[in-house]
Amino acid sequence: MKKRERAILNAHITGVGKYLPEKVLDNKYFESIVETSDEWIRTRTGIVERRKLEEGGTSILATRAIENLMKNTGLKAEEIDVIIVATVTPDMLFPSTACLVQDNLGATNAWGFDLSGACSGFLFALQTGANLVESGLYKKVVVVGADKMSSIVDYTDRTTCVIFGDGAGAVLLEPTTDLSLGIQDSILHCDGSGRDALNMKAGGSLNPSSHETIDKRWHYIYQDGQKVFKVAVKGMADVSAEIMQRNELTSDDIAYLVPHQANLRIIDATARRMGISDKQVMINIDKYGNTTAATIPLCIADYYEDKKLKKGDKLILAAFGAGYTWGSLYLNWSLD
Ligand code: COA
Repeated sequence: MKKRERAILNAHITGVGKYLPEKVLDNKYFESIVETSDEWIRTRTGIVERRKLEEGGTSILATRAIENLMKNTGLKAEEIDVIIVATVTPDMLFPSTACLVQDNLGATNAWGFDLSGACSGFLFALQTGANLVESGLYKKVVVVGADKMSSIVDYTDRTTCVIFGDGAGAVLLEPTTDLSLGIQDSILHCDGSGRDALNMKAGGSLNPSSHETIDKRWHYIYQDGQKVFKVAVKGMADVSAEIMQRNELTSDDIAYLVPHQANLRIIDATARRMGISDKQVMINIDKYGNTTAATIPLCIADYYEDKKLKKGDKLILAAFGAGYTWGSLYLNWSLD
């Protein structure tokens, strides 16, 4: 049964926030450290520049994004019930980044946790947060996608180092009895048979840190780009078309596709499959690169800030990432 048919409360987004560190790494910088070119990076990925956090961990990115959300909405730290941090670059394995963010904010009434869904992390966290709100138990749930990818990027590997960047985006979820607003439906998947195509092998319980894991460069991202590209194109396009179909949405109904920003060519393929035009697609990969869990909330925050969103707009969020993980989520926007 679709969620909408059983809900008496819907979770909807009532505020957004974002944080991008100041330091910019442009394509020229990569020309100086690996054998690449501005032209290759632009045409193969769509990326022009990305950001780098010079000091501190992911908790700093997440905290700053939530502070920005609090400034935009008037939300007070002590009003927050739950903090969910979607990330693959936690400050440390434990305590969770959510605990560190709770302390940074002084969110004295909140509990929280980290969610590891790689590039689909924000989608998974948004659905999880929505379920907490719709249970009736929690009224103010903050969902943040935050990643300091520069901490796990191998700056000698040209096939991955040019792609990733640091950043964080946050949303506030609250309940509404207007079921036409907020999160309407989602289709989420994971398939661990993709584990060898995109991973960071060491630092967990399987391959604890050792001299050997360092020598083998296992503390960095490994990606088989072509393999992931093929499954990402199919996965993201299929699941976006499926959510439109089962909610009887046509391309004209959709205000925006909000795609994970991994590669402009994957985004274009998804948009084509949905039959939507370029102006119906949120894009900021040129400015920030792939910020993993942060790409989708950063898109939403940028477009909201630029007044390109209006109440009632139908958005389809879609992502594909390590695991594999992938999915789509359909929501009706609530803010003007
Ligand atoms: N600069 C210049 N040349 C590069 C390069 C770079 N930064 N990176 C790779 N190349 C080279 C390769 O070595 C290869 O050279 P060869 O033909 O001499 O062997 C050539 O470019 C083509 O490599 P390929 O891997 O086929 O490139 P691509 O078009 O697939 O682009 C990615 C590489 C990583 C950008 C692309 O595969 C991709 O986006 N993959 C999916 C990423 C994704 O969605 N991840 C999931 C979420 S994180």
